[in-house]
Amino acid sequence: MGDDVIRIFDTTLRDGEQSPGCSMTKSEKLEVAGALVDLGVDIIEAGFPIASPGDFESVRAIAEKYGDQTVICGLARCIEADIDRAWEALKEAEKSRIHVFLATSAIHMQYKLKMAEEEILRRTSEMVSRARNYCDDVEFSPEDASRTDLDFLCQVVETAITAGATTVNIPDTVGYATPNHYYNMIRTLKEQVPNIGQAIISTHCHNDLGLAVANSLSAVEAGARQVECTINGLGERAGNASLEEIVMAIRTRADFYRVRTNINTTKLVPISRLVSNVTGMRVQRNKAIVGQNAFAHEAGIHQHGMMQESSTYEIMKPQDVGFVGTNLVLGKHSGRHAFRERVQSLGYSLDDETFQKVFDDFIALADKKKEIYDADIVAILDQRSHHVPETWTLLRLHTSAGTGTIPTATPELKNEETGEIRRDAATGDGPIDAVFVALERIIGFPVKLQEFDVSSVSSGKDALGEVVVTIADGSRIHHGKGVSTDIIEAAARAYLQALNKAIAARKNEGE
Ligand code: KIV
Ligand code: ZN
Repeated sequence: MGDDVIRIFDTTLRDGEQSPGCSMTKSEKLEVAGALVDLGVDIIEAGFPIASPGDFESVRAIAEKYGDQTVICGLARCIEADIDRAWEALKEAEKSRIHVFLATSAIHMQYKLKMAEEEILRRTSEMVSRARNYCDDVEFSPEDASRTDLDFLCQVVETAITAGATTVNIPDTVGYATPNHYYNMIRTLKEQVPNIGQAIISTHCHNDLGLAVANSLSAVEAGARQVECTINGLGERAGNASLEEIVMAIRTRADFYRVRTNINTTKLVPISRLVSNVTGMRVQRNKAIVGQNAFAHEAGIHQHGMMQESSTYEIMKPQDVGFVGTNLVLGKHSGRHAFRERVQSLGYSLDDETFQKVFDDFIALADKKKEIYDADIVAILDQRSHHVPETWTLLRLHTSAGTGTIPTATPELKNEETGEIRRDAATGDGPIDAVFVALERIIGFPVKLQEFDVSSVSSGKDALGEVVVTIADGSRIHHGKGVSTDIIEAAARAYLQALNKAIAARKNEGE
């Protein structure tokens, strides 16, 4: 890769997944990894193999499936067992990287590690060498680099490179840096570390002060050639630097940065939706690049300018990032062929069975809703095209509610494995509560509802409603999403999807 290429290191599956309530199953991680490969990221940090058997297995499976297409990376502390375990998970990949980290700030050394500087230097050297014995591609991160004494940071980085690190990452672990501060750190490393030319400098910024993207771009200006980031800026606390914002800033301001990435930007919105669906973490409407309003021009003066010439107020085109607008596309009389073409042009390729289900959903929707927009079709597609287990499906739902009456719900479900049909009725605080009680009772699987969120997919009184729920089955968290013009039905579908995921997770663990 030339010096004008910024490597995109995606850590959605590792640092992003550490975000509370955002854990993913192995099959969800594989699906996201596949989408990251299609997006064109250069490195996928797939997990922290020593952290748990589940993490190990996910990294192993991703390495096996995608390790010939993209570099697959596993995280390890500067501990022998971590590095050995990371390699065990990665070894089937043609392209792999071990990422070792050790804290270097005075606060971390004194209170967390209880190590002096000499010991940090020794462990860095020993553990980077150990990782290099397994793998030619080794990344080293001095954790909490932005609060580390700069002279000491230079020493650590030099030691890591001497021991064989091919990438040195400079984490702003607690989101403390500011753009100038971070720029100066990278420049100092470039100017004062004698062997810095033998490694790629990487950025890894957290967003506690809302500066993660700005800091990452400052580092690029200063000479960093790898950026670590996550889809939708997913990550603990305020999150990590957002991949889509960094990529589009570099592309839109190529005149200034004079670098490029290997990312296929038209895949940004689809992968944003996928990660949001899988983690249950909604994307805020006004989020840059991938938020629902990112390209909506409301002000009259803007609309007028846009009609004359779109570049008056638009610095990027919605289609450049794969944005699905609210174009009116289809109605009740649009045929199967037109629908299939529309699905394909939205970037989905479905097998015949899934296409049939999606088409049936479309016909059912067209019966209720006069005008169907792209956003509606994507919402239907999202329901069907991800690998969501479907032990129980909803056949029918009857609810009654109103002022002065007791809300009741009677769902009827089919077990797709046994063919058994069950129905039950329940009462609740409201119709949605009654539905949830009845579903749990029918399936015999009590869980705790943690979050419930409802929004509309498109505009108009007959818009599709989208419900996202988060449930807890003991310590395991699952998300479900449902869409319908009737939000009670959408809620039932969302809850059922989350219950189906919980059932599948228990089965996978052999309970
Ligand atoms: O934020 C951080 O310091 C990290 C390291 C493990 C790179 O995530
Ligand atoms: Zn981090």
